[in-house]
Amino acid sequence: MTELLRIEHLTITPKSEPGHLLVNNVSFALETGKTTCIVGESGSGKSLTALAVMGLLSDQLQLKSGAIHFKGHDIAHASNVQLRKIRGREIGMIFQEPMTSLNPVLTVGYQIGESLTQHLKLTGAALKSRVAGLLQQVGIPPERAGSYPDELSGGQRQRVMIAMSIACEPAMLIADEPTTALDVTVQAQILKLLDDLKTRMNMGMLFITHDFGVVADIADNVVVMFRGEIVESGPVQDVLQHPQHPYTRALLDCVPDADGKKPLKPIDYAWLNAGAA
Ligand SMILES: Nc1ncnc2c1ncn2[C@@H]1O[C@H](COP(=O)(O)OP(=O)(O)OP(=O)(O)O)[C@@H](O)[C@H]1O
Ligand SMILES: [Mg+2]
Repeated sequence: MTELLRIEHLTITPKSEPGHLLVNNVSFALETGKTTCIVGESGSGKSLTALAVMGLLSDQLQLKSGAIHFKGHDIAHASNVQLRKIRGREIGMIFQEPMTSLNPVLTVGYQIGESLTQHLKLTGAALKSRVAGLLQQVGIPPERAGSYPDELSGGQRQRVMIAMSIACEPAMLIADEPTTALDVTVQAQILKLLDDLKTRMNMGMLFITHDFGVVADIADNVVVMFRGEIVESGPVQDVLQHPQHPYTRALLDCVPDADGKKPLKPIDYAWLNAGAA
């Protein structure tokens, strides 16, 4: 097992309000070829944790303390120049909204090629053939390279984003709720594509979701976040079979059975009022 990413005691606050802990003392690790899922409800600090790894926290926020080791190097204090070399090359990232991340006036082929030119200096026929290969890998006919984003379906646009994120064969992929904006059938296809690519390319995947059903499908390890803190983490089977924290149990209660019999329930917060840690 090769450790790819190790986050230690990560704490993020607004610069203007250093006492407000948006992410509080978060620690976990990710190995090559494995998937770690961060699961938690809206506002629990999942995206801020991922953005911190990419060095993309907004100017209003600060890494108050903690370390982020990627391939053994502390990238929490890396320069912008170093981070630009890592982003896209060593760490690929896919966001929730493919339309806002794609440029509407450039063809998808051009956009997939951009990071290949930037990081690998590919041009001309070599670039064109690599772009075609990437489209094929994500299940889009290569002749669609000349299409513009609005000529593709939501699922195809997310496939284009995936092609962009894996273009330079990164060691790690961060996927922040990549299927949320898609309908259920397409969600399942995109999830399978990401899981297959992770295996084929032996990447480590940090996958963010609020859906424990997704966690059960793809995770090796799971990190459960609530209000900026990790309430529980561990190998997925342990957490699914023996959830220790009432919030984890409440999240698990919200997952419908495979046969759809169990009704969807809202999260039960009784444990919080009862003073559970
Ligand atoms: N620039 C900012 N200034 C102040 N607070 C912020 C800023 N950005 C995010 N936050 C707050 O930090 C908390 C964590 O946000 P984050 O985006 O990580 O949540 P999340 O778990 O990804 O939620 P979601 O599932 O909705 O994407 C939220 O309460 C959010 O309002
Ligand atoms: Mg988020």
